[in-house]
Amino acid sequence: MNRLEGKVAVITGASSGFGRGIARAFAAEGAKVVVSDVREELTEGGFEEDPNLTTVEAIEKDGGEAIYVGCDVTKQAQVRDLIKAAVDRFGRLDIIVNNAGIYRGGKLTHEFTEEDLDACFNVNVKGTFFGAQEAVKQFLEQGEGGNIINLVSTAGLGGHPNQSVYNTSKGAQANLTRCLAIEYGEKGIRVNGICPTYAKTALTRQLFDDKDFDEAFKQSIPLKRWGEVEDIAQLAVFLASDESSYIHGDLVRVDGGETLSRYSV
Ligand SMILES: NC(=O)c1ccc[n+]([C@@H]2O[C@H](COP(=O)([O-])OP(=O)(O)OC[C@H]3O[C@@H](n4cnc5c(N)ncnc54)[C@H](O)[C@@H]3O)[C@@H](O)[C@H]2O)c1
Repeated sequence: MNRLEGKVAVITGASSGFGRGIARAFAAEGAKVVVSDVREELTEGGFEEDPNLTTVEAIEKDGGEAIYVGCDVTKQAQVRDLIKAAVDRFGRLDIIVNNAGIYRGGKLTHEFTEEDLDACFNVNVKGTFFGAQEAVKQFLEQGEGGNIINLVSTAGLGGHPNQSVYNTSKGAQANLTRCLAIEYGEKGIRVNGICPTYAKTALTRQLFDDKDFDEAFKQSIPLKRWGEVEDIAQLAVFLASDESSYIHGDLVRVDGGETLSRYSV
């Protein structure tokens, strides 16, 4: 415990799913957490055990410290205000987790619409870009380094059928992670990406409920199970902590071995 004592963390898309799990895990390790999302209520269809509590309420119930700040990550001005709100409340910023993301799948490339493409790129790419930009400005002003964690995906490391829009957005996020790491390492700003395979959140509920998909997916994974929010949250704690101080620019897979048989990753 207390691996993040004294640190201030902003987490986007933190009302549900991975973001919520990461926010709770960070708070349990002593971080002061800014929970941010487009809405404070949980997304329907998730697997949370206590969906009647907002993320801030859940953290406070466990004895942690957190505030909620509304922010649509596709709007740069709102992201700027989010970082300002964190600094106004807690005095500094140490960590940003660019987690907010959406999924568009289930179609072949020629069937996707411009709206699908814009929606996915706006949240997954522009949102991560703005989060990194605004956090870096604050880190440079403080002059003591910083930590950026991007929620990418194994979809950012290779191809999958029927989700070219999502995969290209995640591929861009993966390359952004590399660029940021190269640019800001000398300033002590560490940057890494987390690459889960399918894990149980509202985002994958439809796939989880499809019994044929569920069976085929589990068979394709060497560990024979779906990812859990806690698998991702504990990796985020490690990457945010000083225990990972020489891990930089990495895209860390948390995928039960999904990608082992692919050459490209
Ligand atoms: N669940 C998976 O299997 C999986 C696998 C790999 C990567 N990911 C990535 O993990 C991240 C979190 O996904 P999740 O599974 O927890 O999904 P989720 O739907 O449970 O949570 C996503 C959260 O992001 C918020 N959000 C959406 N648009 C936003 C915006 N414009 N601004 C701010 N917040 C916004 C939603 O309100 C929601 O609370 C995403 O980037 C996703 O692509 C998920």
